[in-house]
Amino acid sequence: MNRIITLDEFIIRRQKDFPYASGELTGLLRDIGVAAKIVNREVNKAGLVSILGKAGTENVSGEAVQKLDLYANEKLIDCLKNSGECCGIASEELEDFIPIQSVASKTSKYVVVFDPLDGSSNIDVNVSVGTIFGIYRRISDPEGPVHLEDFLQKGTELVAAGYVLYGTSTLLVYSTGRGVNGFTLDPSIGEFCLSHTDMKIPDRGNYYSVNQGYYLKFDVEMRRYIDHCSDLNLRLRYIGSMVSDIHRILFQGGIFMYPNTRKYPQGKLRLVYECNPLSFIVEQAGGKAITCQLERVLELPVEHLHQRITIAIGSPAMVEEMKEFVERYSAAPTFK
Ligand code: AHG
Ligand code: MN
Ligand code: MN
Repeated sequence: MNRIITLDEFIIRRQKDFPYASGELTGLLRDIGVAAKIVNREVNKAGLVSILGKAGTENVSGEAVQKLDLYANEKLIDCLKNSGECCGIASEELEDFIPIQSVASKTSKYVVVFDPLDGSSNIDVNVSVGTIFGIYRRISDPEGPVHLEDFLQKGTELVAAGYVLYGTSTLLVYSTGRGVNGFTLDPSIGEFCLSHTDMKIPDRGNYYSVNQGYYLKFDVEMRRYIDHCSDLNLRLRYIGSMVSDIHRILFQGGIFMYPNTRKYPQGKLRLVYECNPLSFIVEQAGGKAITCQLERVLELPVEHLHQRITIAIGSPAMVEEMKEFVERYSAAPTFK
């Protein structure tokens, strides 16, 4: 049997790749791993404890908040606050960012952004959900509290990003900009163990992933591309949890799209908490991520914390093909 490499061991080994690393990022990634185990424990017993259902409130984006959304949010904040490795947090479930006081007079240089639970409409019916996170180096004066500008950095500035998928097994996938690695939680020892080394996305795949129920609400160029996917007999898969759809595409190839609709003229998915971290992972695995207006997601200026964008992300050849359809059918091309 091959020797097991735990997430902690892997992270520490990789610290050597960064010549001036102080161990802070290492500690931060480890803390996220701990929070993931705590959230996983609750997700797994969700039907047994009174944690299913709506919390009775709406988040800043006007969506119904589930009890487990709040639980995951609290656990992540607790772990990051107590770690001393993070000086600020922004979450999909919070209107504003939270500055964190330095622990033991240590000044941390990283801020963390996250979607504590992605796909929360799936919780009550036992379908996969996930946590998405991104880590930036702060750009404000390290002597003072963090500023909004620390969180409004472009995706190209991400130091690390990743996700945890609470599925048939629990997986943590992350990248620090040198490839993508995946770790499966072994419940018998309570450790994330290296299971997927240097993940690479296939150039194309047999799946496309879009909420086809909104077909008539999409612009003509997106409808033409979706028709093309259907003409090719590609298989439609749409879980309602972006992180789960992206996870499948990373392994099997394909394209995930969330275009603008009448209800969401700018798109629905959030740039800071969902699109940037997942675009970072997909690009690191050799894929592409652009908006339906053909800008590279990671280069988009971030104007506010809860900014929404459109997205097409996945296998490079398929994203390129979608781009060609948009260029061909778009009535008023605004792209470069
Ligand atoms: P969240 O649960 O964090 O609010 O995110 C849900 C997102 C995304 O994960 C998913 O792909 C999409 O919303 C589903 O939206 P539709 O139901 O409009 O297709
Ligand atoms: Mn989400
Ligand atoms: Mn969420």
